[in-house]
Amino acid sequence: MKLIIVKDAAEMSRKAAEIFAARIKKKANLVLGLATGSTPEKMYAELAKMNRRKEVDFTEVSTFNLDEYVGLRGDHDQSYRYFMNKNLFNKINIQKENTHVPDGMALDTKETCKLYELAIKGAGGVDLQLLGIGSNGHIAFNEPGSPKASRTRVVKLTKNTIKDNSRFFKKVSEVPTKALSMGNGTINEAKEIVLIANGANKAKAVKATLEGPVTEAVPASLVRDHKKITFILDEEAASLLTKKK
Ligand code: GLP
Repeated sequence: MKLIIVKDAAEMSRKAAEIFAARIKKKANLVLGLATGSTPEKMYAELAKMNRRKEVDFTEVSTFNLDEYVGLRGDHDQSYRYFMNKNLFNKINIQKENTHVPDGMALDTKETCKLYELAIKGAGGVDLQLLGIGSNGHIAFNEPGSPKASRTRVVKLTKNTIKDNSRFFKKVSEVPTKALSMGNGTINEAKEIVLIANGANKAKAVKATLEGPVTEAVPASLVRDHKKITFILDEEAASLLTKKK
């Protein structure tokens, strides 16, 4: 496990973008696992900037997003498909057909989740997975208590997550209560993981992830012992850690 603590969100974003760009330079057809939320926004802007400057090429890259709200169409401004198009895919030279986000409007969600797993396998697995972290320690939409071996499935969001994410919606009642999410097991199979976190509201979850027990009660702790994982934290998110190296 590698721990990098930086000054602020801007530096966290630059560092993470550099890692992603370096891996794509090494392997042009890299398979990325991508995350949404406010945390990766600046990192995606960095990658778009690098792409504009022709420092990184996404032509052969493919992507699989972690999750999507159930009931939101891809053109809904709070869907994760919309977020990804707006913040990254529309700004880089990726082929849209190589980008995958679970279908929140799927009628047969079981089959959709199974096919999503198969698509990841078919692409050779995720080479590099980006993760954020929820204030309750969730990764993707694997809420506390999600099984270690869980796969892509429909999950119910906790009150805490609905409240956290309501800042993006007009009213709390508009926040979907369910999502399709890769499982902890799916995420752990990525060949490499980068987890980013910034801000004081993540400090408790970061502390529990890195210094608490490895437990399903804190899903992010389940990736801590991954063979190739880097945590990039800003000072605020790292503020409660006892060991800063
Ligand atoms: C959502 C996403 C997670 C993300 C988390 C944190 O719940 N499903 O993948 O890590 O929010 O979001 P933010 O970066 O906005 O704090």
